[in-house]
Amino acid sequence: MSIKMRFLLSYVGVILFSITLLLAAGFLIIFAITGDVKSIEHLYKKTYVQKPLTTVEESVFLDLKLFAKNNPKQLLNEKELKRIEQEDIEIVVRKGTKVEYASPALDKQALVKSLPGFEETNINTRDTIKINDYFFTYVKFDFYFPDKSKGSVFVLRKASSYAELIRGLFPILSGLLLFLLIMVIGILNYLVSRSIIKPISILKEGAERIKSGDLNFEIKAISNDEIGQLNRAFEEMRTKLKESINLQIRYEENRKELLTNISHDLKTPITSIIGYVEGIQDGVANTPQKIEKYLSTVYSKAKDMDSLIDELFLFSKLDLKKEPFHFETVELDKYMRDYVEELYLDLLQQGIHIELHFLNKQIYVIADREKLKRVLANLINNCVKYMTKDRKNISIALNERLRDVVVQVTDNGQGIEPSALPHIFERFYRAEQSRNSQTGGSGLGLAIAKQIIVEHGGEIWATSEIGKGTTLFFSLKKGEKK
Ligand SMILES: Nc1ncnc2c1ncn2[C@@H]1O[C@H](COP(=O)(O)OP(=O)(O)OP(=O)(O)O)[C@@H](O)[C@H]1O
Ligand SMILES: [Mg+2]
Repeated sequence: MSIKMRFLLSYVGVILFSITLLLAAGFLIIFAITGDVKSIEHLYKKTYVQKPLTTVEESVFLDLKLFAKNNPKQLLNEKELKRIEQEDIEIVVRKGTKVEYASPALDKQALVKSLPGFEETNINTRDTIKINDYFFTYVKFDFYFPDKSKGSVFVLRKASSYAELIRGLFPILSGLLLFLLIMVIGILNYLVSRSIIKPISILKEGAERIKSGDLNFEIKAISNDEIGQLNRAFEEMRTKLKESINLQIRYEENRKELLTNISHDLKTPITSIIGYVEGIQDGVANTPQKIEKYLSTVYSKAKDMDSLIDELFLFSKLDLKKEPFHFETVELDKYMRDYVEELYLDLLQQGIHIELHFLNKQIYVIADREKLKRVLANLINNCVKYMTKDRKNISIALNERLRDVVVQVTDNGQGIEPSALPHIFERFYRAEQSRNSQTGGSGLGLAIAKQIIVEHGGEIWATSEIGKGTTLFFSLKKGEKK
């Protein structure tokens, strides 16, 4: 059974149940207040008693009254009475306890039981009586016959009975009730289907689209209730799925690109090694000096390949998270000073000045000493490699922040194009398209540095101005002094 049908049935059930309860409660309340069910009858009677007499009733009653006062004997004359009698108006004449005359529509025996008694004062002249389940309103006049026996004349008019009234009203009432029922069910159904069934069918449609591999749509949550939350969760799942599929596609593309790059970067030195070796074999290098030159070129190309393979190896180990890290608390300012001291002379020989801007305090960070050295070496290598000025400067600064320390390596080199800046940390990315052998490099240096810093829980970024220089920043988490 569909949810819609179930809801429909439950509404009908609830509504019928409540109507029954309401009726029962109504009867109970009336009973509790008045103590008996008859009171409803009294209420009903009163509404009729208060109605004024119709003109016909009035004239018939006056005629009878006149007879009763002046010539009561006439009241025993059936002919006379029949003359007075009008349509829908019944007449009753009572002498003593005997009903002397009653209009043909009335049941004489029942009348004897139902008619009110004699009352000399004629005060309560109007009321309603029930004769054989029918209500009649009456006007009464009491008098004495010449033989001193008690006489009463009645003019009765049939009032619609209980049952008749209800029977009359029943079709209207039940029609109204049915209409209300249908209306309420319709409204409830509309509300429920808007708030439950519609979002569910949206979900179903979404699930089917996902099943068929389509993730480019949006599931909108209409409400904030559980169903809305479900839709939102589903939408989140869809975006996550889409992201992960996109990521997978990107990975796949990266892998292909990586293979091409590696093949290219290995092929170039190999080709030239083969060329030089063939040159020696074919006797192109015919002097010992030439052979020496060829061999040293072969050696340096092989060395390049070796370091490229090393870099690749390190990169892939970092990428696969297979490279172990040994984190410890490092006094960063001292570590940097020692490191620069090692490089100082070497750099000076290449005409590069390196300076340090440190705070006059000890700064501790959590780092792997060896890996950190690798990061610094890659950054400084770049500074050296992409240096174009006559006065060559590298400066290293430390900045303490709340939770970490930012290391800043600045050079006054050629700078990086703004369009290239966002890509320099990508593997194999090189800002200059021509991979000239003079600057060398595979474009892995900054990618490796990034992997290492990320593994440290830090960040790495760069700013650069073309012609002026570049600054590389990386952050390291602060450590506690041991
Ligand atoms: N200090 C710098 N000044 C100018 N350009 C830079 C600097 N650092 C990096 N770049 C640019 O960013 C690119 C990527 O640098 P990265 O160190 O990753 O590769 P590489 O130096 O080309 O090769 P590798 O470091 O693997 O030998 C470089 O090719 C260069 O164009
Ligand atoms: Mg580099």
